[in-house]
Amino acid sequence: MIEFVASSRLFNLHTHHTTYQFLIDPNGFLLHTYYGRRCGGDSFGYLLRQADRGFSPNPREAGRDRTFSLDTQPQEFPAVGVGDFRTPVLEVENADGSCAADLRYVSHTISSGKYALEGLPAFYGEEGEAETLEVLLRDPWTGLEATLYYGVFPQLDLITRAVRFQNGGSQPIALTRAMSACLDLGRMDLDLITFDGYHTGERHPCRQAVRPGLQQISSIRGITSHQHNNFVVLCQKDAGETHGLCYGMALVYSGNFEANVERSQFGDVRLTMGISPWHFRFQLAPGEVFTAPEVAMTCSGSGLQTMSQNFHRAIRHNLCRGWWKTRRRPVLLNTWEAAYFDFDQQKLLEIASSAAETGVELLVMDDGWFGERNDDYEGLGDWFVNLKKLPGGLAPLVEQINAMGMDFGIWIEPEMVSEKSRLYQEHPDWALQIPGRPSTRGRSQLVLDFSREEVWRSVYAQIKKVLESANITYVKWDMNRSLTDVWSGALPAQRQGELYHRYVLGVYAMLEQMITDFPKILIEGCSGGGGRFDCGMLYYTPQIWASDNTDAMDRLLIQYGTSFCYPTSTVGSHVSASPNEQTGRRTSLQTRAVVAMSGTFGYELDPRKLSEGERSQMRAQIDEFKRFYHLLQDGDYARLTNPFRDQEFTAWQHTAPDRSEALVSVVAGMARSNAPFRTVYPRGLDPDMIYQVDGWGCFRGDTLMYGGIPLPQGGGDYQSWQFHLKKV
Ligand code: GLA
Repeated sequence: MIEFVASSRLFNLHTHHTTYQFLIDPNGFLLHTYYGRRCGGDSFGYLLRQADRGFSPNPREAGRDRTFSLDTQPQEFPAVGVGDFRTPVLEVENADGSCAADLRYVSHTISSGKYALEGLPAFYGEEGEAETLEVLLRDPWTGLEATLYYGVFPQLDLITRAVRFQNGGSQPIALTRAMSACLDLGRMDLDLITFDGYHTGERHPCRQAVRPGLQQISSIRGITSHQHNNFVVLCQKDAGETHGLCYGMALVYSGNFEANVERSQFGDVRLTMGISPWHFRFQLAPGEVFTAPEVAMTCSGSGLQTMSQNFHRAIRHNLCRGWWKTRRRPVLLNTWEAAYFDFDQQKLLEIASSAAETGVELLVMDDGWFGERNDDYEGLGDWFVNLKKLPGGLAPLVEQINAMGMDFGIWIEPEMVSEKSRLYQEHPDWALQIPGRPSTRGRSQLVLDFSREEVWRSVYAQIKKVLESANITYVKWDMNRSLTDVWSGALPAQRQGELYHRYVLGVYAMLEQMITDFPKILIEGCSGGGGRFDCGMLYYTPQIWASDNTDAMDRLLIQYGTSFCYPTSTVGSHVSASPNEQTGRRTSLQTRAVVAMSGTFGYELDPRKLSEGERSQMRAQIDEFKRFYHLLQDGDYARLTNPFRDQEFTAWQHTAPDRSEALVSVVAGMARSNAPFRTVYPRGLDPDMIYQVDGWGCFRGDTLMYGGIPLPQGGGDYQSWQFHLKKV
């Protein structure tokens, strides 16, 4: 519920469990007063204390009063050059070369339903589900306008924000920093959690105290990156899974980003998030508009688990879209680790027939089916079937696979081009390259200039033909390198700073076109695994391959970190061969399946190489996955242990919203001789409900939660168990 109290010029944004508040001060500055547990709506303006602080300048309206300074006030959208020396959200280059912007309140509107952003992904909500507040600010001296958007989802405890900048003056203005949101939290003792890593080791949580000065994570790779996810958490020092105040902020965007946490001279904490200002310069002629992408925020007064569950619900129901949003996703078998580039029709049919017998529902033909693509040096950009490998094209192959009772999907990497390709021969200028400078290769390939509509449309036209040529129900959209040599032949020199963002808009435009033309195709996002795992992509692709690392034990770490923001239903996860291709580690088929079930579930191996026993185990696993699907994909997720800290075992739980059923999954670490007894403690059960625990007995919820479930002893390294609890 959005409330404006005219007498005190106060905005209250209430969700079921939180309140977000800011006010308009007498000089038109927006001052942030509160974000936290739900309150009645009284103004927290009394906390805006003022003192004459040396070296903190005063706006002219203050006259001889030296106590008011933007440098010390909590602000809603702090600009630059007029008195606040903390990290701004806005930086400009005015026509006269000055860099000041001073945004003051002009007007606001409150409406039902959720705002949308043209060409950009955003959470959505029907009337009754969400409300929108728009606050118009203007710099009276240049005419630059900023409309702050707030989407309030009461039931989800979610608040979204975005900003639309418009040059309302008569001179050009360039935006050199246009972040999406600022959260000024006042003086609090907080920890910052970021999700960091590398290719094959994404989203490992890193928790550290917020210290004086600036802590920053960012990506300037053109994509979200394996190195830092565009989701961050601020939480009270002692906050844990089930207690403490926590704030989560996610950027709904898939390009360069920056998140800054700054502790000021007086201990106040500021969080800002948005597009990275690095090589960002957006030129606005009079009347022109720039929209900064959306940020989604949630606050939990009861720990990290609730914070994560708020995001999970919101992403599942109000970000993912389309045909596959609530439908059960097919159990797939992907050919990458089964065959790499080495396949032809015959081999695919053999793999398919072996997979079909185990209950696999979808065969995905990964990289290597198009152009002259026999290794990763050539062929990207040539999106036509390699008839040497697949005589007759896709139709005869897909028909035979369909006849086995399976669907069929393909891999694509539309944003890329190999120099050895027809596309590059015909259009060398379509690749991002700086004239007169040798371009940098990544995985031996170049990046296409997707800021140019004719480029992505031409690639799309090729892919569309392929998708129309056979019964294709799934596409894996990959992206396998960071952007370099970022220069476009289609933009003048002073607009090259717009290119990173325009590239992302091109990617979104092609995805939107594909979804419109093929609404029933399930698209899985991918970027060398989890390099572009973000809320922006999830608006187009309801699942994303979480990592190129399929090792079950490593995946425990990756999936643990991923779960802080993203629901199980979005996490692409497969059972692969043992020993694992990336680590050489051996784990049981059972353990690999327990881990992969905490994701979209599928296989990434050659089923022909499995023994009969393993193949019947595979069949049983697929049945189990289907049996537990409603819990795994729609249940409330809880992290019962922290695999970075707890060496004995890793455990997590999916619980039905009505608490009548739960699945507790456990994977043990290395075995020890004469080991102590281990117990796992489920969470969030109904204390008075009687649960049947598969193969063990009937117990009250409180008995199970407070007494725990004993884990079996012995059995070697990396044992695993799933405990299914069901109301009697
Ligand atoms: C990326 C993906 C893999 C696979 C290969 C194919 O690395 O993450 O799953 O599709 O590309 O080249």
